[in-house]
Amino acid sequence: MRILILNGPNLNLLGVREPDIYGQESFENFLHILREKYSDVLIEYYQSNVEGELINKIHEVGFTYDGIILNAGAYTHTSVAIADAIAAIATPVIEVHISNVTSRESFRHTSYLTPVCKGLIMGLGLQSYELALLALKK
Ligand code: DQA
Repeated sequence: MRILILNGPNLNLLGVREPDIYGQESFENFLHILREKYSDVLIEYYQSNVEGELINKIHEVGFTYDGIILNAGAYTHTSVAIADAIAAIATPVIEVHISNVTSRESFRHTSYLTPVCKGLIMGLGLQSYELALLALKK
């Protein structure tokens, strides 16, 4: 099984960025543990702060991989182009968020991505990614 974890803007700063909201762990450290725990799954990882690069990656893997776990960061709330890319591919996409966006500012309450994703997991810290992985494995 081959899956892609795709992180959008500012998520390269996890562990440093607003730790009261996003926690103190770096994504690299979390990914290392996740790969060891689920060694039966090939977990690819890509992060970009550039919208078009995220779209290119979705196109690149979207007909061959078994799943995409996507945290599009702030593009979640703005990007029709990423929603269109998800709708265009065959691979199922699970949207994840570290924080519970519905309990934050009202501009975070809208997701352009949820309607075209298979499911949504949020508010559980980095565990949101692990639960998405388990869902894809099933
Ligand atoms: C986020 C929530 C978004 O609103 C925010 O812009 C992020 C991170 C989360 O994982 O909680 O960058 O996607």
